[in-house]
Amino acid sequence: MPRPHPSSPPEITILRALLANETGFVSGGALAKTLAMSRVAVWQHMEKLREQGFKFEAVRARGYRLTARPTRLNPASIEAFLPPRKPSPGFVCLETVDSTNDEAARQLASGRAVPFVVIAGEQTRGRGRFGRVWHSEANGNLYLSFAFRPQLPPGRMQTFTLWMGVNICELVARFTNTTPGLKWPNDILFDERKAGGMLTEARIDADQIRDLVFGLGLNTNSPAGALPHDIARRAVSLAEHTNTLLDLNKFAAAVIGRALDAYEQFVSGKYRETFADLWNQFDFLKGKPVSLLHGTLPVHGTALGIDDEGSLIVRTDKGKTERFRAGEVTLSKKAPS
Ligand code: BTN
Repeated sequence: MPRPHPSSPPEITILRALLANETGFVSGGALAKTLAMSRVAVWQHMEKLREQGFKFEAVRARGYRLTARPTRLNPASIEAFLPPRKPSPGFVCLETVDSTNDEAARQLASGRAVPFVVIAGEQTRGRGRFGRVWHSEANGNLYLSFAFRPQLPPGRMQTFTLWMGVNICELVARFTNTTPGLKWPNDILFDERKAGGMLTEARIDADQIRDLVFGLGLNTNSPAGALPHDIARRAVSLAEHTNTLLDLNKFAAAVIGRALDAYEQFVSGKYRETFADLWNQFDFLKGKPVSLLHGTLPVHGTALGIDDEGSLIVRTDKGKTERFRAGEVTLSKKAPS
């Protein structure tokens, strides 16, 4: 039976033990011993889990077996699925919030220890790039933000969102057995429909990044047609793409674990080789005809990939090779020259 993490509440320890043995039974005596409490106390903690939608089968002389788990966002499930790490990250799970990025920024400003994750079932003011609205109904999609204090010079952060993006793509690919694409600089796509978006926001102090928030919206379990009509054509959820509902809490935990690992690798600086491999694997634009809105004039050409700084390399239709640090890319209809 897994040993309780020093900071884990008893419910999480109980869940971890039951999840580690989902098809079998875990004895009440073993749970009581691990938690150093009476069997009655174990039972009381299990009652708290029942109130959240967990169901257990209890068989005399065998113990307990988990028979049902909540399908909606559930903090206890996410925590129980999270691989243990030291120090354990802070975790805030809210039913509703204005924006997880804003909540993370507020908690950073009030001095909360990092790293921590804010996840919500719904956002009332979800934001995307360029101040656009990120539709964030309570429909089984994921809205989450990661908060860090990297103390790195801003120049080191240029490839950060791209690195996080390819990591999320790989996790999605493994979890759902699909092939998403990362469209420079922040879109996760299936074919040409958007399944996710990233929004990185930073506060800089004296040439150092003080506060960093990495926000991620992933269309996970929303049904087809759940989004407003004008967006629905251009958006897709993982459930819609795969025709299968995902185990939302298990998936959320996997996303959180992967993003925290990716952040640590990024800060250590030991990520370049893996980044190049992952970029080649998930680059959605490579070799495609693109139009890039840069300032007021659109540039037309063919996307060639990114450079070491994460800038998009485009061979323009006028025959020049140009690099773009920022901008908005659309696929052009015409064939590459
Ligand atoms: C984009 O594609 O323009 C980026 C979208 C980012 C949306 C996520 S949802 C969680 C976090 N909170 C927000 O308000 N935005 C990000």
